[in-house]
This record gives sequence, C-alpha cells and structure tokens, in this order.
Amino acid sequence: MAPFLEAVVVRKNDEIAPDISCVLLEAPRVAQCLEPGQFVHLLLPTFDAHILRRPFSVFATDAAGGLIEIVYQRLGEGTRFLAELQRGASLDLIGPLGQGWRAGANTRNALLVAGGIGIAPLNMLAAQLLTSARVCLITGAQSAERIVSLRLPSSVASATTKTGESRLTVITTTDDGSTGIKGLVTDVTGELLAQQDFDYLATCGPEPMQRIVAAHALAAGVTCEVSLERRMACGIGACLSCAVLTRDGTRRACVDGPVFNAEEVLW
Ligand SMILES: Cc1cc2nc3c(=O)[nH]c(=O)nc-3n(C[C@H](O)[C@H](O)[C@H](O)COP(=O)(O)OP(=O)(O)OC[C@H]3O[C@@H](n4cnc5c(N)ncnc54)[C@H](O)[C@@H]3O)c2cc1C
Ligand code: FES
Repeated sequence: MAPFLEAVVVRKNDEIAPDISCVLLEAPRVAQCLEPGQFVHLLLPTFDAHILRRPFSVFATDAAGGLIEIVYQRLGEGTRFLAELQRGASLDLIGPLGQGWRAGANTRNALLVAGGIGIAPLNMLAAQLLTSARVCLITGAQSAERIVSLRLPSSVASATTKTGESRLTVITTTDDGSTGIKGLVTDVTGELLAQQDFDYLATCGPEPMQRIVAAHALAAGVTCEVSLERRMACGIGACLSCAVLTRDGTRRACVDGPVFNAEEVLW
C-alpha cells in the first residue's frame, strides 16, 4: 500500500526498561495496513522546527482497535522528545513505509536473532510465523533489565506443535550474565544453526552483529534477511541518505528495505 500521512494520538507512553519506552498510538488507518518489518516516519517537533522525521519499526498492531505500538530507545533529541509525550498528545506519522520481511508461508522452522532494540521489527514477524511455523528467538541485551520481551496475541503465544510442544523457544543472552547465557547473541547463533534444521533466519540489531549473524546463516545454507536501520532523512527514496551497497548496486533502505536478503548486502 502507498504511504500516507495520518494524525495520530498518544494513548500510552511508558518506560519499560532503562532508556527504553513503549508508545501506544491511536492510528486507525495505518494500523490496518502495516506488514511485519515495515516502519513509520514520525514528526517529532522540538525547539528546532526543521528537525527531520524519525523512523521507527512497528512492534505490534491492533487493527481492530486502530492502535500501533512502537518500542524505542532514547538516544538523542527526537527520542527524548517522544519520551516526554503524554496521553492525548498528537503527532503526525507517514506510513506504511519500506519493504518488510519476505518470510514465505513455506517457512517451517525460523530463527530470529535480536540485538537490543533490534527486537522491535521482529515481534510482528514472530506473531505471523507462529501461526504455522516453529520460531526460536535469540534475544540479547547488556543486562536482564534491558531485555524487551515479545508481546504476542495469546492465540499464537500458546501455539503448540502436533506433539504438544510449544512452537516458540526463547533464548536470552546478556553481556553481564544477569539472565540467560552470558555472552552475545552471535555466540549462540552459529551453534544453534549447527544443531537444528532452520529454513529461515531474520535478524535486526547493530550492523556488526547482523553481519556476523548473516555470515553464520549463509555458511549454514539458511536463507537470511536483515533489517538495516540506516540514518534516514526523507524516508521516501528521494535523498539517498540511507544508501545500502548491494550486489545489484546502491539501494535505498527506506524504499528497497529496510529488510534485505543478507546475500545481496555488501557489508
Ligand atoms: C527503518 C528503521 C526502523 C527503526 N526502528 C526503531 C525502533 O523500532 N526503535 C528504536 O528505538 N529505534 C529505531 N530506529 C532508530 C531510530 O530511528 C533512531 O534511534 C532515532 O531516529 C534517533 O533519533 P534521535 O533524534 O533521538 O537521535 P539523534 O539525535 O538523531 O541521534 C542520536 C544518536 O543516535 C544515533 N542514531 C540515530 N539514528 C540512528 C539509526 N537509524 N541507527 C543507528 N544509530 C542512530 C546517532 O548516530 C547519534 O549517535 C529505526 C531506524 C530505522 C532506519
Ligand atoms: S531516507 Fe531519503 S532516500 Fe532513503
């Protein structure tokens, strides 16, 4: 669907971990048409009237309720402004933007790898895949308090295989070992790919992490998609600030991505 402008209203905006918040927006039109992995561009006015829009993945949607949820990390002026917005504040949004995950209906056993806030575009994908496939999520952060959990509709969260096992497995890593495995998501990915027969891998997080995860997937012969969170200005393909070098030449993360087949990307 072609992107459009929508005036949206903050329903809730809460800190869920240190420097990480979740904003629930009343966005009745865009909530109907977002695909997993697509993003929206929010205008976050500050004292500088010329501030650019900021891109955010959509963590979850409630089409019936006309709501979308964004999980964001406070980094600079724009996200600090966003964190201060109270219930009832209005903003404008452009969406749906970009190309999301292309995981096919044939996927049977998917591995999702999230580094930190990279969980954001993977939540909707996990919900979609769990309707018919097994999903293993490796999610990592610096410490236990910074792990953002999946938020799935109850019907898919409790989905089981024919033998009654849960379709969802979650493996957590932390840099400090305060929960899960002490180490990085990349430490676990290669081992898991060697042990299990995955047919699809999706990853998001810091680019060096995604590059390592993609290399593991390619070595194991598993189709891998990466979501590249490049700095963006226009968000609609006009400025090339989000250029990604690929085997097919320069592509734009905002319109050709942010999701790319890992084999195409020249890291
Ligand atoms: C397609 C896409 C989806 C995204 N989804 C999410 C999301 O769901 N949740 C979330 O928290 N963030 C997401 N981001 C990143 C988010 O857009 C930036 O964190 C935000 O624009 C920072 O704005 P700011 O004004 O607070 O920071 P700025 O003042 O613009 O920058 C502060 C610091 O953050 C760094 N930074 C800014 N933008 C990015 C970026 N795109 N990638 C890496 N570093 C950056 C800057 O280099 C600088 O060091 C996404 C980015 C893209 C391109
Ligand atoms: S942000 Fe302008 S071309 Fe992608």
